[in-house]
Amino acid sequence: MSNLIPRSFIDDLLLRTDIIDVIGDRIRLRKAGKNYTALCPFHQEKTASFNVSPDKQFYHCFGCGKSGNAIGFLIDYEQLTFVEAVENLAQRVGLALPAQSVRAQKQSPQDNSIYDVLTDVASFYQSQLENHPKASLVKNYLKNRGISASVISTFQLGFAPPGWENVLQYATNKGYSLKQLVEAGVIIEKEDGKRYDRFRDRVMFPIRDHRGRTIAFGGRVLDDSTPKYLNSPETAVFHKSTELYGLFEARQAYSNLHSVILVEGYMDVIGLYQHGIKCGVATLGTAVSPTHFQRLFRYTDRVICCFDGDNAGRQAAWRALEASLPCLNATHSVSFLLLPEKEDPDSLIAKEGKEAFVNRLQRTVSLSDFLLTQLSSQHPVNSIDGRARFLQAVNPFLTKLNDAVLRTMLVEKIAELCRMNSADLEQLLTTLGKAPTHQSYSTMIKPAGRLTPMRLAISLLLQYPHCAKSVSAEEVNIITQWEMPGIAVLSKLLTLLHQNPQLTTAALLEHWREENNIAYLHQLASWPLTLPTDGVAEEFTGTLHRIKQLAFEKQIDFLLEKAKQHALSSEERSQLQMLLKQQAQEQAV
Ligand code: UTP
Ligand code: MN
Repeated sequence: MSNLIPRSFIDDLLLRTDIIDVIGDRIRLRKAGKNYTALCPFHQEKTASFNVSPDKQFYHCFGCGKSGNAIGFLIDYEQLTFVEAVENLAQRVGLALPAQSVRAQKQSPQDNSIYDVLTDVASFYQSQLENHPKASLVKNYLKNRGISASVISTFQLGFAPPGWENVLQYATNKGYSLKQLVEAGVIIEKEDGKRYDRFRDRVMFPIRDHRGRTIAFGGRVLDDSTPKYLNSPETAVFHKSTELYGLFEARQAYSNLHSVILVEGYMDVIGLYQHGIKCGVATLGTAVSPTHFQRLFRYTDRVICCFDGDNAGRQAAWRALEASLPCLNATHSVSFLLLPEKEDPDSLIAKEGKEAFVNRLQRTVSLSDFLLTQLSSQHPVNSIDGRARFLQAVNPFLTKLNDAVLRTMLVEKIAELCRMNSADLEQLLTTLGKAPTHQSYSTMIKPAGRLTPMRLAISLLLQYPHCAKSVSAEEVNIITQWEMPGIAVLSKLLTLLHQNPQLTTAALLEHWREENNIAYLHQLASWPLTLPTDGVAEEFTGTLHRIKQLAFEKQIDFLLEKAKQHALSSEERSQLQMLLKQQAQEQAV
């Protein structure tokens, strides 16, 4: 959709927009030096870690890691689509959206019709569960799994018949184009032009978004063949890492969701529902992410993670724990229910019934108990040595907690466990925090990895776009040809800034909105660079020089390595000579 609005329009729009006004209209900003701060609207906090920079036209929260430009802010804060956000900003500065993008938007096959395709295909699957010759067999399967007709209808379960072209024909007859069907994820098109139904001979589970629109499908085989489940691919409307199966149905079932039970599978959600526990939700074959928790905590205060009693389930619980930490606070809690070996929520509730299951739900393990029990069983705290290892292990978890009160409570528990006083412990934790521990894993909060010359150059350009002036157009051309990771981003930045030196951080980032390295660029755009302002240009040229050396070294290594195996072409030979000569000159300086 976004590519229907010309880039130049968006560049212009962001130049005319002031992010301070856009955000300031919605939350209270306070001036702090050059920048503005506020309580972050995207996570609960007591001290302001949300920062807006008028220079960069960019916001960044040091607490939860959210960052972006004015468009991104509207998308996240107002839950707008990209086009809606652009429209909103355009209206504000009195720009008219280019005619073709408005028209394209109105008639676009993409935005609305992808939902239409999915809705129609879902009803096709539903009708096949009634009318297909195999329907009674499928219904028997569901019945044997204890699913009633009313639950089938609540979840709009269906049947994708065997055969390669059922949906293809049905949807083509309805007037959908092949492109639409492929974009909706229901038809697969191979490179050789073969096209066929993605889901065949499977029980179908429509996945619905928070508004109840079908956005994807999961399909289960009726026997033991593999893969057991097949899911829709990522599409314009389906993002696995944020969606939760069953959330819409749970919200329909209860006007107020006191708690939500996070499970692993479609059938767990449905099995629980069938027994009257209508608040199960499942991730879609992906690990639980902080985004999942953020989403859940919009609707409930309490998430109970209920995973299979096997090793994989235990690991899933552990990952869920880590993912939940940034989202926890005094109101939003997570607890754990680990099931007996070889059981999942669906099988267990079928076996022991609702009451026994509810009993288990009343005996969940709190997050802090789960964390401390696990870690102290790995690192027993009954020796000085063990305590040190235990603290080393627990510290990365503490640093991921954004909520100060919660953190203090946990520190007190740890102090008790280690028989230390909390003040001494805090002191110790501060020193521990400074030493890198390999247990801490990269999160969206801390910039991951170290600042390589390439990252530094990109970060400098993003934060101080005027640096680009020190590179001539001819040099940009040469840089584009170097071979090393990140060079594509670097040269795109330089090229953009040569075409339009006015671009701000925000406007630059906009050019990557749809690329998968966008999150990484956001990190670099907010990476804390402690530089004197008048040293920026110098730092940048120095960094470019370092990159050039690295690129040359790499190319020399490559050519030398190649020379060992095959003879070099005469062109390659002269390139090698030239590079070695340059390197020697550099080293002589
Ligand atoms: P499980 O293998 O635990 O399945 O996968 P289940 O939920 O117990 O299913 P039943 O009871 O055998 O029908 C849990 C989840 O992992 C994803 C699905 O989302 C599934 O619900 N999964 C599993 C896949 O995506 N593909 C697979 O092949 C298997
Ligand atoms: Mn199961």
